[in-house]
Amino acid sequence: MPDFSSEMVIENVKRFWPWVLIPAGLYVIPNLLSALVPGPHRKPKLNFKDKTVLITGASTGLGRALAFELYARGAKLILTARSIDKLKELCEELKGSKIKNRHEPVYRYLDICEPSDLEKLVDLSLDGKTIDVLVNNAGLSNRGPVSETPMSVHRQVMEVNYFGHIEVTRALLPYIPDTGCIIVTSSVQGRIAVPYRSAYSASKHAIQGFFDALRCEERHDLQILMVSAGYMNTGFGSKALDTSGKPVQKEDADQAKGYTAEYSAQRVVDAAENREIELILAPFSNRIGIFLRWLWPSLFYFFMYKRGLKDEYGKKK
Ligand SMILES: NC(=O)c1ccc[n+]([C@@H]2O[C@H](COP(=O)([O-])OP(=O)(O)OC[C@H]3O[C@@H](n4cnc5c(N)ncnc54)[C@H](OP(=O)(O)O)[C@@H]3O)[C@@H](O)[C@H]2O)c1
Repeated sequence: MPDFSSEMVIENVKRFWPWVLIPAGLYVIPNLLSALVPGPHRKPKLNFKDKTVLITGASTGLGRALAFELYARGAKLILTARSIDKLKELCEELKGSKIKNRHEPVYRYLDICEPSDLEKLVDLSLDGKTIDVLVNNAGLSNRGPVSETPMSVHRQVMEVNYFGHIEVTRALLPYIPDTGCIIVTSSVQGRIAVPYRSAYSASKHAIQGFFDALRCEERHDLQILMVSAGYMNTGFGSKALDTSGKPVQKEDADQAKGYTAEYSAQRVVDAAENREIELILAPFSNRIGIFLRWLWPSLFYFFMYKRGLKDEYGKKK
């Protein structure tokens, strides 16, 4: 029989308590102390009811799920993307659903890489109105080794994931009040790079840098929620550009095992409502990766190299 006497339990608690208390303290203390620091995290909760929310990349995946989640919370939606038929269907679905919302959702064509589309959107749809929440969500990925990826793919991915979001944010920033919020759908790959996705990882690192700089400029009080998402089961990988610049059109096995778009949307909207500025929407293993990249980079890169060998492009080498 194992010894469960009270002396034994006390002895074990004494022996192991630092291993529990030190990490718990490292997590709790900075969170408590952040209440002393000025910033958007100290604002009252963001209530989406009657707020105007503009979503880019709303036609499919996370953007579409965000539309449902925000519509359910009473938001006035402006849904944008290039697939106008899908946006029209989405608006019909929202209106036909059991959700009660007195604001009719509207949709607009917007290629975020086309400045003229953005000008039209601002002139025709906004006309001095307020955008309370901007969701920078549109995205594009790539697959393939650096040695075979042409500059055109690097440029195209950067156009969508970096320059496109800057263009939209620069144009709409004057319409966003300090009580509002900018949500950015970045990726865990904005914090740690993954082999054979160089353009995508680089573009997500770039967008993290841009918004981290913006939050330290004159609008310091404006909430910017950076979402570092892990895999979501949205079919995003199948649209990634291969080395010929065409969509790979093949489901990504890791992504298929990822979070659902609906669960992800709920987490994102909850985080925005709670005035959070960073959300790592990914399993614990991803957090360990981010931590290891900081603590022991050489070991992290070795692990990622090993991971790359299991990738279809790594196997070919
Ligand atoms: N799925 C994942 O595993 C995962 C993981 C981490 C982060 N993310 C990020 O999550 C975001 C949403 O992706 P998703 O998973 O929901 O994939 P998705 O279903 O493929 O959504 C991508 C959206 O971006 C839009 N888009 C692409 N290029 C555009 C352009 N030039 N202008 C305007 N809209 C454009 C697409 O709409 P149109 O084609 O109709 O324009 C689509 O609505 C992306 O930023 C992605 O990087 C995804």
